[in-house]
Amino acid sequence: MSLLAVHRSGPADAGTPLVLLHGFPLDSRMWQPVVDLVPDLPTLAIDLPGLGSSPTPEAVAAALGLPNVPSLDVSADAVAATLRAAGVERAVVAGLSMGGYVALALAERHRELFAGIALLDTMSAADAEGAREARLRIAAEAEGESGAGALAGMAERITSPGLAERAPEVLARLRQWIANAPPAAIAWSQRAMAARPDRLAVIADLAVPGLVLRGVDDALASAEAAEAMAAALSGGGHVERVEVSDAGHMTTIENPEPVAQALHGLWRRAAR
Ligand code: MLT
Repeated sequence: MSLLAVHRSGPADAGTPLVLLHGFPLDSRMWQPVVDLVPDLPTLAIDLPGLGSSPTPEAVAAALGLPNVPSLDVSADAVAATLRAAGVERAVVAGLSMGGYVALALAERHRELFAGIALLDTMSAADAEGAREARLRIAAEAEGESGAGALAGMAERITSPGLAERAPEVLARLRQWIANAPPAAIAWSQRAMAARPDRLAVIADLAVPGLVLRGVDDALASAEAAEAMAAALSGGGHVERVEVSDAGHMTTIENPEPVAQALHGLWRRAAR
């Protein structure tokens, strides 16, 4: 049973794949600039529930026999089932922002899948009360007249201040992706993220090579959050910490070269 849409690239016979989990409210296209830079790696970019070409979260939960309640556990179980259906028993799993939250849920529920982990522009902590309330408000707005307009201004807020001058086409593409995101998936994803617990302890005994990366101008995922995850992961194996210049929260599209280089390094350390 293949639950989620999988976009494969690179040589199919090169061993342990690099699995790529995207951020909110985007889809696997946000990984393309990085995928293009690692043609020698077997990559599987997955569309999370309700986004890209994947089925709705409700259909995914029903297929998995899970309750129809927004939860990143649904996303994690769907990723695991999708990988197993594709014949993948072990992978280097990379998640950016919401994709990182899903990677942590996957590590909690399916840790045997992990050969390595990359956490990009993300955090292991649960939301503070104010952030949780804001998510629930946006979810309600997205389901109302605003639709994806509930996320107006998000592209500018999450990218580095210089992007509009440096690469206006990248900012325009991100704006368009956000404007075209399905309102029902915006609402479900916000509620699922609001419900996620703190998962720092999950990575403390994961015992695989790791990468913790963020854009220097990331206004959402702080350097402190990255340090905490790197410190927790370092108990189990070598961890690389990378700060990407000329990038905010969307490192894969703002400055893909250092992201590709760091993921390639992790894959070489982990996929043996
Ligand atoms: C993302 O990029 O996936 C979101 O900004 C995550 C979040 O809202 O916490």
